[in-house]
Amino acid sequence: MALQPLIAPSILSADFARLGEQIAEAEQNGAAWIHIDVMDGHFVPPVTMGQVVVEACRRATTLPLDVHLMVEDPDKMLESFADAGADHIHVHYEASPDLNASLARIRELGCKAGVAINPATPASAITDSLPHADIVLVMSVNPGYSGQTFISEVLPKVSELSEMIAEADLPTAIEIDGGIDAETLPSALAAGVQVFVAGSSVYSHKQGIAAGMQALRNAALQGAH
Ligand code: DX5
Ligand code: ZN
Repeated sequence: MALQPLIAPSILSADFARLGEQIAEAEQNGAAWIHIDVMDGHFVPPVTMGQVVVEACRRATTLPLDVHLMVEDPDKMLESFADAGADHIHVHYEASPDLNASLARIRELGCKAGVAINPATPASAITDSLPHADIVLVMSVNPGYSGQTFISEVLPKVSELSEMIAEADLPTAIEIDGGIDAETLPSALAAGVQVFVAGSSVYSHKQGIAAGMQALRNAALQGAH
């Protein structure tokens, strides 16, 4: 799906008082997708954003909105997030009672279907779901918060998924989420990741969003050679 490394800034670390501007700045500096972290206070402790924020983002950008549902039993929300303007919807393996049905429903709604897996979940858990998924979202931190340390132990799992996808001749993209910065990106790229979610390394970068995006783009270019 993704032929060159793509950067998907996570607005969880953005300044919500200036959300539209913060999305525009990421877009002007090479963002490919905008990643939106939806948390329900059950699957993970925080409550973050819902459909109204997705609608607001939809008005702020034409980039694909990459909606990561960290919610228990996501099925009842799929349609409303699609209606709000989501382009990609990720559901967690750990939170979905009938994962393949959820993925099929997401596609039926006209969105790309993503399956997200926690750091402790093995690649083998989703073997049967790969044909139903356009994207696998490998969590490289335990979901819930921005700014956590990258768990490099997930990299062999990325390589394993990459091989499984190639062997089955599937177009499924691998996206990684958590602790991605200019230092960690190259190792994930080498393992087979195509899409890099980045929250704090973009929105909390000391020199600002443009510098954060530039550092990630440079890391992706260097890693690709
Ligand atoms: C964590 C979220 C991430 C988070 C990433 O549960 O899914 O998308 O915003 O933030 P960083 O890049 O700071 O780890
Ligand atoms: Zn996320």
